[in-house]
Amino acid sequence: MPLKTLGVFLLLASRLNFIMGAVVFNWPDPFLDTLEDQLYRLGFSSASGFALNCAARQDTTIAAQWLRLAYHDAATHNSTTGTGGLDASIAFEFTRAQDVGEGMLASLGDFLGVQNQYVGMADTIAMGAINAVIGCGGPVIPFRGGRIDATEAGPATVPEPQQDLDSHIASFQTQGFNETEMIALVACGHSLGGVRQVDFPLIVTEDVPTGVQNFASNVGFDNTVVHEYLNSTTENVLVVGSNITTRSDLRIFSSDGNVTMQSLASPDTFNEVCADLIGRMINTVPSTVTLTDPIEPFDFKVWNTHLFPQGGSLAFLATLRIIETGANRTVTMFWKERTGTFCPTEGCSIAPFQVESEVPSLYGQLKGVTAFILHSFNASIDLVTSISHFWFEINDNDGSAPFIVDNNGANYTIDQDVLLYDPRRTIATFASQPVVVVGVKDSSTSTNVTALSMIANPILDSDPGVPLPINITTVFELDSSNPPADGYTFYSAPIVNTLDNTIRTTVNGTAYSLWVRFLTAAGV
Ligand code: HEM
Ligand SMILES: *[C@@H]1O[C@H](CO)[C@@H](O)[C@H](O)[C@H]1NC(C)=O
Ligand SMILES: *[C@@H]1O[C@H](CO)[C@@H](O)[C@H](O)[C@H]1NC(C)=O
Ligand SMILES: *[C@@H]1O[C@H](CO)[C@@H](O)[C@H](O)[C@H]1NC(C)=O
Ligand SMILES: *[C@@H]1O[C@H](CO)[C@@H](O)[C@H](O)[C@H]1NC(C)=O
Ligand SMILES: *[C@@H]1O[C@H](CO)[C@@H](O)[C@H](O)[C@H]1NC(C)=O
Ligand SMILES: *[C@@H]1O[C@H](CO)[C@@H](O)[C@H](O)[C@H]1NC(C)=O
Ligand SMILES: *[C@@H]1O[C@H](CO)[C@@H](O)[C@H](O)[C@H]1NC(C)=O
Ligand SMILES: *[C@@H]1O[C@H](CO)[C@@H](O)[C@H](O)[C@H]1NC(C)=O
Ligand SMILES: *[C@@H]1O[C@H](CO)[C@@H](O)[C@H](O)[C@H]1NC(C)=O
Ligand SMILES: *[C@@H]1O[C@H](CO)[C@@H](O)[C@H](O)[C@H]1NC(C)=O
Ligand SMILES: *[C@@H]1O[C@H](CO)[C@@H](O)[C@H](O)[C@H]1NC(C)=O
Repeated sequence: MPLKTLGVFLLLASRLNFIMGAVVFNWPDPFLDTLEDQLYRLGFSSASGFALNCAARQDTTIAAQWLRLAYHDAATHNSTTGTGGLDASIAFEFTRAQDVGEGMLASLGDFLGVQNQYVGMADTIAMGAINAVIGCGGPVIPFRGGRIDATEAGPATVPEPQQDLDSHIASFQTQGFNETEMIALVACGHSLGGVRQVDFPLIVTEDVPTGVQNFASNVGFDNTVVHEYLNSTTENVLVVGSNITTRSDLRIFSSDGNVTMQSLASPDTFNEVCADLIGRMINTVPSTVTLTDPIEPFDFKVWNTHLFPQGGSLAFLATLRIIETGANRTVTMFWKERTGTFCPTEGCSIAPFQVESEVPSLYGQLKGVTAFILHSFNASIDLVTSISHFWFEINDNDGSAPFIVDNNGANYTIDQDVLLYDPRRTIATFASQPVVVVGVKDSSTSTNVTALSMIANPILDSDPGVPLPINITTVFELDSSNPPADGYTFYSAPIVNTLDNTIRTTVNGTAYSLWVRFLTAAGV
């Protein structure tokens, strides 16, 4: 059957991306790969699942804690100097009086462990804010990635309730929001959660059974806080608390004669305005940082590729993730050899050994993704001629011509076969702690193999330290339990609790590096 050339398909795809202003994914791109998984796949980020159903914690909601954390992190921005903003500096600041509350460290603890060499804590905090809002039934906010984690605390510029209106206006101006936007952003934020008596005894002066005086009478993300303010039934202590000095929400909400609050009485307006302002809040970054275009779910994504020597050939595992379209698709993987001749002109090919359907994250579902279909391939590659690149042909089985998925015309390129992560030998060696095994195509037994790994710095109750991930470097040793085979010599190292690993070696003066995101591989 003739293949429809990519021209039309690509033109269409890039046009759509242009119109939507969405990011374009060219494999391999560990940064976008990680962020897209965390946004759209279920179980790939703790900054998503925990906040589902507006789940309760510590007498408030996890979502409320995440949203407050994001604001306090962003509040270090100074639009005049272009410094601060959503940069995870909160990890160095959460012990300050203006950041009081156990929700701060609890949230950082939720987020710690999904970072890697490419995606930092600041992007996780931003993603957490987005998931907090939808987890409580609020609007969908676009996600842009690329925030850079600070290495020290920012200025102590979080607004506090006892400050006067002029200082609040000035604070928000510095952070990039005018007076109207300040009113709305505070109303959006104070849709969730409340004020804890233990932390603010001079504000919550009357005992509340839970210890938290909520801003609104309901739990979800909506404009009840606005309605109750306008119809004077509010119990928001920053509006009606007995201490007049700390009625900051009242001063802010009424600062334009209630015009903005009245405009937020419409649920649609509230959602639109909050999506825009919380979106701007999480995109408040130092002027040296450039964020990506919004990350929409990728139509086609190669995932979990592994190339490793096995019984006289190279095993090549790959999965193509496709957004469910309703078509009963047949997907074929093609590849070409690296040297010499092995495959026919049209390429070697194989059908998937497994096709699975996967439910996307709530964010994915709200973006209209009904399911991801995972087509998994297990190819046996000739050891000598090896593999240089692969691509896919998709037949919708509806009479239309099959089309090619080839990484936007560039093919999925395997840049080397000299340094390989060996999932099978790694898993077989797993005992109480992971022992990572890599194969090096070099008969020397003294090759220098190292890994730069990121690990989650454990949060200790006694001393939480700085809840950010840290790097470690590990030197591999010749692996005595895996003798040389198929032209590869094996090296191993115990690497515990890693978030990702970049393995490096040099053979014959050429440097090779390999990104290993997960130490386990399903079905290996
Ligand atoms: C003048 C500006 C603001 C002041 C003075 C202020 C003050 C406060 C105070 C005193 C609390 C209680 C914290 C606790 O007891 O844990 C609180 C909670 C909260 N604030 Fe604000 N806030 C301001 C702006 C914002 C903004 C702009 C947002 C986000 C868009 C926000 C989001 C939240 C959330 C979600 C909570 C609830 C936290 C929880 O229940 O754990 N606030 N705020
Ligand atoms: C922001 O930076 C400007 C210029 O350095 C400085 O004058 C101002 O005080 C800063 N604002 C805050 C709130 O720190
Ligand atoms: C704040 O900015 C918005 C959008 O640019 C504008 O509509 C509004 O009038 C501004 N408010 C003030 C007080 O300048
Ligand atoms: C005030 O607004 C809330 C939230 O919309 C509503 O539940 C309540 O019935 C209103 N009360 C009065 C007295 O209008
Ligand atoms: C009201 O709050 C302010 C600021 O926290 C505090 O200084 C003052 O003592 C409080 N007043 C009363 C009566 O508790
Ligand atoms: C704004 O609304 C509040 C709450 O209903 C009310 O107490 C206040 O008088 C209003 N202010 C103005 C200027 O309308
Ligand atoms: C999809 O197509 C395959 C073969 O092309 C067929 O075996 C299978 O039953 C079809 N599945 C559905 C749900 O139509
Ligand atoms: C992609 O692979 C095909 C098949 O091997 C080849 O014809 C084509 O030139 C490759 N494209 C690029 C950009 O390398
Ligand atoms: C191995 O490589 C690492 C990282 O490049 C380097 O620090 C180390 O000195 C090397 N060791 C040897 C024995 O060459
Ligand atoms: C970890 O290593 C990466 C890659 O070398 C580097 O970009 C990053 O700054 C390091 N992070 C820390 C916390 O040292
Ligand atoms: C390294 O050099 C040796 C000797 O020239 C050669 O046999 C071997 O294939 C080379 N290995 C790689 C990975 O380049
Ligand atoms: C892939 O095929 C090999 C050999 O045919 C087999 O041993 C291995 O279990 C298969 N792996 C998966 C993930 O199916």
